[in-house]
Amino acid sequence: MPVAADLRARADALRWYHTIDLGNGIVTKGVDDTPYRLARLEFPASFAGKTVLDIGAWDGFFSFEAERRGAARVLATDHYAWHGAGWGTGAGKAGFELAREARRSKVEDLAIDVMDLSPQRVGGTFDVVMFLGVLYHLPHPLLALERVASVTRDLLILETVVDMVGAGRPALAFYPGKELNNDPTNWFGPNIEAVHAMLNTVGFRQVRTVTPVPSAPYRAARAVSHWMRGKNSFSLAFRQDRASFHANRL
Ligand SMILES: C[S@@+](CC[C@H](N)C(=O)[O-])C[C@H]1O[C@@H](n2cnc3c(N)ncnc32)[C@H](O)[C@@H]1O
Repeated sequence: MPVAADLRARADALRWYHTIDLGNGIVTKGVDDTPYRLARLEFPASFAGKTVLDIGAWDGFFSFEAERRGAARVLATDHYAWHGAGWGTGAGKAGFELAREARRSKVEDLAIDVMDLSPQRVGGTFDVVMFLGVLYHLPHPLLALERVASVTRDLLILETVVDMVGAGRPALAFYPGKELNNDPTNWFGPNIEAVHAMLNTVGFRQVRTVTPVPSAPYRAARAVSHWMRGKNSFSLAFRQDRASFHANRL
């Protein structure tokens, strides 16, 4: 079978989370519109010479993108989506491995829980750490951010669900059940003020929100759509969004 046809057949046999360009005109059919999310992160145009750690990398889109932008070393880490029973798309680590092979990538990988991160476990600190879509999955968010800070030399790029929008002071919504998107793996949704305060608390000197939360009328319209589709109640959806942050230690 020609190389491209073989690659397409192997990619089509997997269930993908990320939408990744594998080359040869083949783009994975991810459930996540990852290029759209990339555009909302203010990803540095160049990672030249930087060491990069991707925490909760899943299929590895952001690791491969950092490598494409010149990173000297990229370490992709994850745990649940790669090895956890019943987590994610069920494809385990196969997507990450196929994408790495197809892209002839040198991205390294390590299976490790966020709570176990330390310079000893990951081989030092990293110039840039990506912590994208993971914070709200953790039952101990401040402790997790301490672990993340311990392996960050300078820049942390963080993306998370935010909740309690408009509370006017640092606050986190607690999801003891399936309150967020009917998903029992979601635990806490901080508001923007809480993300800044938690990052300052664990040692980041400067924190910048790079995606402002949309206006109240926009959030109201979106909340109506969530409610009509049975995804979330109106009042919960109105207070929720996703936001991205850049935080610096130096
Ligand atoms: C919503 S996905 C985000 C994937 C990717 N970072 C992105 O932004 O597209 C959440 C990821 O966090 C990982 N994750 C959740 N809890 C974790 C934990 N305690 N330790 C390590 N990874 C975890 C999952 O395995 C999954 O890959």
